[in-house]
Amino acid sequence: MNKNEIRKKILELKEQRDAIIVAHNYQIDEVQEISDVIGDSLTLSKYCAESTKKVIVFCGVHFMAESAKILSPEKTVLLPEIDAGCPMADMVTVEELRKAKKKHPEAVVVCYINSSAEVKAESDICCTSSNAIQVVKSIKEKDILFVPDQHLASYVAKMVPEKNIIPWPGYCITHHRLTLEDVRKVRELHKDAELLIHPESPKEVVDKADFVGSTKQIIEYASKSKSKKFVIGTEMGIMYKLKKDNPDKTFYLLSQGLICPNMKKNTLMSVYNALNEMKYEINIDENIRVKAKEALDRMHNIQL
Ligand code: 13P
Ligand code: SF4
Repeated sequence: MNKNEIRKKILELKEQRDAIIVAHNYQIDEVQEISDVIGDSLTLSKYCAESTKKVIVFCGVHFMAESAKILSPEKTVLLPEIDAGCPMADMVTVEELRKAKKKHPEAVVVCYINSSAEVKAESDICCTSSNAIQVVKSIKEKDILFVPDQHLASYVAKMVPEKNIIPWPGYCITHHRLTLEDVRKVRELHKDAELLIHPESPKEVVDKADFVGSTKQIIEYASKSKSKKFVIGTEMGIMYKLKKDNPDKTFYLLSQGLICPNMKKNTLMSVYNALNEMKYEINIDENIRVKAKEALDRMHNIQL
């Protein structure tokens, strides 16, 4: 089959299966093109919970499809490539978290959505990079154990100084590579460009940004800003929507290393196979799902 034939088959199967296809902003262009919704972790988790379709094809990584299943157990959630995981999510296990909770019994556990269902189930509340500041501000207690991203934790600590944030040592393998040297080079090359950075990046890079935000917030900022040039400090998949929404503006990547190999695993063919063979279905132990849902619900119930 050529790509047009695959696209046609996907659309037919989508109708037959009563399915929606959702894609994260980091997916490859042709997967974003075929999707019904493109968004950040927060948008997609809300959308999946509200959708009335029977099947969700989640073009993203494992924890995202898992979050969709936690929120919508009655739906069939498919992840086209079963080994599309998130190394950061694997940097905290439930056993390690239990030990840390014993060490900090007074702390509220805030868990970034980039985590397993088991870790969510062991946490008090979830957050995404869109709402981490508001989530932490909404907590009465001073001590917060923030898992698993040390860089998001450090950004939140800077923005909410009244809290004592205890960071976990995890990180995103893609954003963690960004350096001050990358910033120095692009500032020299593109003096009139604004620097937009994702908070999964190291503190010294975040401190140099003109704007810090989630993928959705970066896309919104670039559209509203009067600037014509931007340097983007997040995964390269975001360039698809930035360029599509702003044909009159120019976008440069902060580093050519900004690629998440796991986000790039889903292809048109794997989306077709997912719908054709109804694979790979995400299932979660019911006790864990119910507890993990409480942490996600607390996040969704915060007024943003
Ligand atoms: P957001 O789209 O929520 O900014 O998430 C970034 C990310 O790394 C997802 O894996
Ligand atoms: Fe995980 Fe980073 Fe890839 Fe997002 S970009 S899925 S945080 S490794």
